[in-house]
Amino acid sequence: MEKISKSIAIIGGGNLGAAIAEGLIKSKFITPGQLYVTRRNTDPLKHLKDLGVNVTSNNAEAIQKSEVVIVALKPYNVKEVMGALKKEVSPKQILISVITGVDLEELKSIFGERNPVFRAMPNTAIAIQQSVTCLCHRGASDSQVSYVTDLFDNLGITVPIDEKLMDAATVLGACGIAYALRFIRAATQGGIEIGFDARTASLIAAQTVNGAAELLLKGNRHPEEEIDKVTTPKGCTIAGLNEMEHRGFSSSLIKGISASYNKIVH
Ligand SMILES: NC(=O)c1ccc[n+]([C@@H]2O[C@H](COP(=O)([O-])OP(=O)(O)OC[C@H]3O[C@@H](n4cnc5c(N)ncnc54)[C@H](OP(=O)(O)O)[C@@H]3O)[C@@H](O)[C@H]2O)c1
Repeated sequence: MEKISKSIAIIGGGNLGAAIAEGLIKSKFITPGQLYVTRRNTDPLKHLKDLGVNVTSNNAEAIQKSEVVIVALKPYNVKEVMGALKKEVSPKQILISVITGVDLEELKSIFGERNPVFRAMPNTAIAIQQSVTCLCHRGASDSQVSYVTDLFDNLGITVPIDEKLMDAATVLGACGIAYALRFIRAATQGGIEIGFDARTASLIAAQTVNGAAELLLKGNRHPEEEIDKVTTPKGCTIAGLNEMEHRGFSSSLIKGISASYNKIVH
């Protein structure tokens, strides 16, 4: 199937907006000339400008020239900024919001009822095209859903979800990066205690997590099936693992995930 190439505006070229722009160019999903990235102070976007991206502080112009509009503003000014730009949005444009905590109902009221609207929850690994992006939508056709899924698949993997799971997706996917990094840091500290220098311990811990994740993602296995392979009877792995569990390893993770979730929903 021929790849559909649409022009894209990213309104709010901050951490996330710029990372999306970089990923879309690196993956060749779009050519730099088809991409518009806006922010008020455009100096930090020089690297994108040098690649040929249309970098501007003119949101209206960026929207007019694009078929797809990705909004990556902070939640507190989306209403004000996008409300003022409503008249620039044409009915056929696909609108995608990556803004945390703004639901589809609210996005429709900000952007206008006529347009297909998507809500996406990526994580910071989008900067290296390794995000998991949870996606829901309203008013979109099958081909629009497949286009937006393809867009985020170029930045990692996409998981379609029901909107009521968006807060849970924020915790498991976006906050999840921090939980995984804390695991790696703790493993690094353990590694130093048993003899490695910090750099080597960190490298071993990070690549071990990478390999464990790939075993599940590429091998399509259950974690316990892989654990069984390394837990020799009376061996050192099961001794360490059980000691971790006695000290609340799984339980503390589950409780932490629930605490993050309760913080969002209450
Ligand atoms: N970072 C993450 O991991 C992550 C993950 C999932 C979702 N999100 C969501 O993504 C959104 C962006 O997060 P972020 O971390 O990228 O924030 P950020 O770095 O502060 O980016 C927001 C950008 O919006 C620009 N901006 C503000 N007013 C504007 C205007 N009137 N016109 C055009 N641009 C304007 C700001 O630049 P100027 O001040 O120069 O205009 C800034 O660069 C947030 O809603 C966040 O909840 C973030």
